Amino acid sequence: MCGIVGYIGEKNAKDIIIAGLKTLEYRGYDSSGIAFVDNGKIDVYREVGRITNLEDLIKDVPIAHLGIGHTRWATHGKPSKENSHPHTSMNKMITLVHNGVIENYVEIKNDLVAKGYTFSSETDTEVIANYLEEEYKKTNDMKQAIVNMMNDLHGAYALGILCADQQDALYCVKNKTPMLAGVGTGFNMIGSDAMAMIKETNKFIEINDLEFLIVTKDKINIFDKEGNSINRDAFISNVNATDINLGTFPHYMLKEINEQPTVIRTLLSKYLCDGKLNIDQELYQQIEQADRLYIIASGTSMHAGLVGKYLIEELAKKPVEVHLGSEFGYHLPLISEKPLFIFITQSGETADSRVALQLVKQQGYKALTITNVEGSTLSREADYTLLLHAGPEIAVASTKAYVAQVTLLALLANALADNPIDMNLELNKVNVAIDDIISRKEQIEKLVKDKVITSRNCFYLGRNLDYYVALEAALKLKEISYIQTEGFASGELKHGTIALIEKGTPVIGLITQEKIALNTRSALQEVKAREATTIIIAQKKVANNDDDFIIENTHHLLSPLALVVVGQLIAYYAALLKGYDIDKPRNLAKSVTVE
Ligand code: F6R
Repeated sequence: MCGIVGYIGEKNAKDIIIAGLKTLEYRGYDSSGIAFVDNGKIDVYREVGRITNLEDLIKDVPIAHLGIGHTRWATHGKPSKENSHPHTSMNKMITLVHNGVIENYVEIKNDLVAKGYTFSSETDTEVIANYLEEEYKKTNDMKQAIVNMMNDLHGAYALGILCADQQDALYCVKNKTPMLAGVGTGFNMIGSDAMAMIKETNKFIEINDLEFLIVTKDKINIFDKEGNSINRDAFISNVNATDINLGTFPHYMLKEINEQPTVIRTLLSKYLCDGKLNIDQELYQQIEQADRLYIIASGTSMHAGLVGKYLIEELAKKPVEVHLGSEFGYHLPLISEKPLFIFITQSGETADSRVALQLVKQQGYKALTITNVEGSTLSREADYTLLLHAGPEIAVASTKAYVAQVTLLALLANALADNPIDMNLELNKVNVAIDDIISRKEQIEKLVKDKVITSRNCFYLGRNLDYYVALEAALKLKEISYIQTEGFASGELKHGTIALIEKGTPVIGLITQEKIALNTRSALQEVKAREATTIIIAQKKVANNDDDFIIENTHHLLSPLALVVVGQLIAYYAALLKGYDIDKPRNLAKSVTVE
C-alpha cells in the first residue's frame, strides 16, 4: 500500500527521502508528496503520478535537514494533488503522512468543524493533522498531543509527523500498519520498510502497535500510548542494498524469475542438513503432532498453499485445509482437536491474513508464519516463523516468493513422509528444468505473440497440481497484462464455462501429471472443437511432439515449481508486448496493509 519515509540529520533530507520513496513505489503509486521544516515554516510539495514527477517539482528546493515523504495508493478519495500526502493542518502548524484507515474520522471531523476547522481534501489523514494542531494548541506539548490522539483515534495508522516550530524533531506513530525506525550516525530515519532506508543504514528498531517515537538526529525515543518511555535494542537487517538493484535486467519481474533457481538452492542450504529438515524442534513437533494443518493466505501465497496442501497430503498423509485470509478472519470453520495454523505471506504484512492470525491467537491456537520478511508483523505475532530467504521481491507480481513458498512446503511435507524423496536430487532437477525454460524464453515470447497477446480473455486449464498452477498462472497474466484470465480445473469447463469459448479464445493447457494427462487433453479437444486457440505446455514424460512448449522432467510432485515459470514468462511477455508497466501494474500494491 502507501509508503512513508522520514529523515532527520546532517545530509540533504530531500535526496534521501526521494531515494527511499523510489524503493517504496512498488507498494502503491498513484501520487506522492514531501514536506520539509525550515525556519519555523512547513513547505509541502505534492504531485500526481510517479515519484519522478515529484522529483522534477522539487529540483530547485534548497537543502533541508528534516522531512517526510509519501507514496500514495488511494483509499479515501481519488488520486489527485489535493488528496496526496503530506496533509497540513488549517493553520499550517502540523503536516503529516499516513498509511492506514481511520475508522472514526467522520466523528472527529465533525468535532473539528464545530471548532471552526476547514478541510481541503476528502481524506481521513487531514482530519488527523487538524486534530493534532488543536491538541498541540491546547497543550503546547506534541508528546501529550500524540498521547491524546492515540486515545481518540480508532483504526490503522502509521504516521510521520512534522511540527512547524520544531526544527529538530520528527514524530512517528504506529498502529496496525508497518513502520520501522532506521538508526544512523548523525541522522535517524523512519520508513514503511527496511528497503526504504537500506541505502543509509542496515540498523533498525522495531516499533510495535500503539507506540510512538520522537526522533532527533542523535536519538530515537520510544513511548507507549500513555507516554511511558520504552527501551528497545536495534537489530541489524540482512537486507542488502545491492539486492534491490535491477542490474542488467529490464524489469524486476524478469530479474526475479531468473533468481528462482538461486532461491531454491538457498532454501536447500538453509533448511536441509545431511538430508534432514533443519528447523526448530518445538516447531517440528507442533507440525508433526497436529491432526490437521490450516493454511491461511491471500493471492499468490494462497496458490502456493494449495500446492502445499497437495504435497503434505500426498507425502505426509496429514489433512490440510487452505483458506483465504479475508474469509477466514470472519468465519472460523470447525477446527480439529489439535490444529496448527500456517500463515503464508511474502510481505508478512497482509492485513487480511493478520486479522485471521489475531482470531487464531485469541482462540489460543499456535501459529506459524512463512514469510519473506524477517521481523514483519505476521512473523512477530505468530509463535513460529520460517523465512523464505528469497531476497527482496520488488515486482508487484509475485514470482520468486511463490517458488520459495512451494519449495519450503515441499521440504516440510517431505520431512513428515514415511517414504521421503531425495529433495537435494529432485530440487536440483527442478533447477535444471527452470534454467532450461528461462534459456528458451524467446520461444515463450513467440507463443504469446502468435496466440495470446491480442485476446480479450484467456483460460488456463489443468487438473490436480496442474490446476493449482493454472490458478497462479492466470493470476499472473491478468494482473500485469490486463487480459481477463481464469484458471480452471479442466474437468469443470464443460459444466458451464465452456459457454465462454469463442473462435480464437486462447486456452492454455497445463499437463505434467501422468494420471490426468489424457483428461486435460480431451478437455482441450472439446474447446478446440469450439474453435478455441489451444496452447499446450507439457512435461516431457507426458508430452506429444507437437505440443507448444515442453518442460524437462521433474518429480511429479515438484512439477509446479518449473511449470509456474512458463506461466510467469507468458504473463511477462504479454505485458511487455502490450506495453504495460510490468513491475507496477495499475491499481495494485505489493503489500496490502488495509483490509
Ligand atoms: C500476486 C500477488 C498477490 C499477493 C497477495 C498476498 O502476484 O503478489 O496476490 O500474493 O497480495 O501477499 P502476501 O504474500 O505478501 O501476503
